Amino acid sequence: MMRKIAVFASGTGSNFHAIAKACEEGVINGQISLLVCDQPEAKVVAKAKNMKIEVFTFLAKEYEDRASYEEDILTQLRGRGIELLVLAGYMRLVGSTLLEAYPNKIINIHPSLLPAYPGLNSIKRAFGEGESETGVTVHYVDRGMDTGPMIVQRTVKIQEGDTLEILEERMHQIEHELYVEVLKELCEE
Ligand code: GRF
Repeated sequence: MMRKIAVFASGTGSNFHAIAKACEEGVINGQISLLVCDQPEAKVVAKAKNMKIEVFTFLAKEYEDRASYEEDILTQLRGRGIELLVLAGYMRLVGSTLLEAYPNKIINIHPSLLPAYPGLNSIKRAFGEGESETGVTVHYVDRGMDTGPMIVQRTVKIQEGDTLEILEERMHQIEHELYVEVLKELCEE
């Protein structure tokens, strides 16, 4: 059985694209049944439409609170029989509505060796600190920001002569590979 996945994203969507492609090519035994996006103008929305993937966008400010927009999201997820929630640059905390509906079924990717550098601008901060390495973490989501049980971590060396742009490029490459590997495994279980 193909696993039904929802990707949650707010921005560019390069991870979304890598996952969607791996699903299309049969590398992942799953399909992205829905993109959930809180930024209707984000690039990821156009990427999904190009790939004929359904999109649910919402504006948080039009809701009273997190629980109310998550209720709407949940209706969309349940209506499609979605089993797994994959956060890929979703710039919001997940609340108890979704956490309780999908226990151990929500994962996130973060561009650092967590618990180091949680939150925003993680690549830039690691680079600015002169670290000799940083990395990528995939983890289960809990109520915190970039906390929750780790699934896998991959180290990325920061080399002499790297600029921030070069490092970011290398990091994103690793993110795409690692997220596809994790999803491939999770969808085979
Ligand atoms: C990635 O670096 C991811 O680790 C972080 O947000 C970024 C999203 O990038 N959580 P993209 O939208 O997938 O290109």
